[in-house]
Amino acid sequence: MSISDFSASRLTIPLSEPVSVAWQSPSNIALVKYWGKTGRQLPLNPSLSMTLSEAYTETKLTALPRESEGMVELDLWFEGSQNPLFGDRMQRFLQSVTDIFPWLTQVSLKLETRNTFPHSAGIASSASAFSSLSLCLCSLEAELFGIILTEEEFRLKASYVARLGSGSACRSLFPGFTIWGRSKALSGASDLFAVPFAEVHPVFRNLHDTIIIVNREQKPVSSSEGHNRMISHPFAEARIKQAKKNTIDLLDALKTGNKKTFIRIVENEAFTLHSLMMTSDQGFMLMQPETVRIISLIQELRRKTGLDICFTLDAGPNIHLLYFEDQIEQVNKLIVEHILKNDKQNVRIDDYCGEGPVKIG
Ligand code: PMV
Repeated sequence: MSISDFSASRLTIPLSEPVSVAWQSPSNIALVKYWGKTGRQLPLNPSLSMTLSEAYTETKLTALPRESEGMVELDLWFEGSQNPLFGDRMQRFLQSVTDIFPWLTQVSLKLETRNTFPHSAGIASSASAFSSLSLCLCSLEAELFGIILTEEEFRLKASYVARLGSGSACRSLFPGFTIWGRSKALSGASDLFAVPFAEVHPVFRNLHDTIIIVNREQKPVSSSEGHNRMISHPFAEARIKQAKKNTIDLLDALKTGNKKTFIRIVENEAFTLHSLMMTSDQGFMLMQPETVRIISLIQELRRKTGLDICFTLDAGPNIHLLYFEDQIEQVNKLIVEHILKNDKQNVRIDDYCGEGPVKIG
């Protein structure tokens, strides 16, 4: 499937009354990391993620009648307040997809959105924000023009559109585990949109992810800037090769239920992501002393207890602690007693493998 397979519709009669749709869409955590892009938001390497459950964005999009055609007109409300900075980003995104949705220049838009998780908590809010908005765009288009797509075509189109907002967002459209980027391991995998990977062994189906918040501050270097630095990175070629192999090996581990390989690859990917940041031109470091303390502790606790725990990191200092359904109680004890050291602060968010987006209006 390519973008030319999607019809680009224009209104022939001006809209006479408001039309609204709403979606809830989750964030995801990458296990094989997308880092570096080219062209129109195409990945340099394949990535593989787990869709989360509790961390999601609710988005309501309303198309309103408009007098005359022009640039995209957007009124954005984030958690009940107008937010000019976020509004500008979303306006730029919507303007950039008017080739796919020409009708966006013929209506006024109202976008109301809220997250279930705190800002900068180490959860990719762009993934849930752009996936929920893309679903709303596809649903609104379907209502305005009576377009009927199969469930699969609809999700792939929404994934394609979400990718243009934030690469990682295209992986949030599906339940469980998702791949974005061509891979020898999966014939349907594409650089244009993500696809679900359903052949997962039961041990991975209820994988847990506890996010340990080390720091909530805005990161000093954005993901977009980090992606740019991969273009001329001295290790780019080796990284692409490694990500391709890690994708193949991780898919195999997910299929066969191989926890040891899963842990090895997931931690290798987290370390690689942050090493690439540190070794890029004008290198930067997003890990903090507390990040390093907790990573060392997780590896030590795994050795000592034999529990199948491991960590991953996003582009930030916060830790994602991954563990299995049958070890929840033991791991929870380790988190409370060793990792958080009985700290009473609210520094953890408990999440788990999720079922994907839900239409809520
Ligand atoms: O989707 P972006 O442009 O915010 O990039 C996300 C990059 C990582 O979160 C670091 C890795 C990933 O694959 O999600």
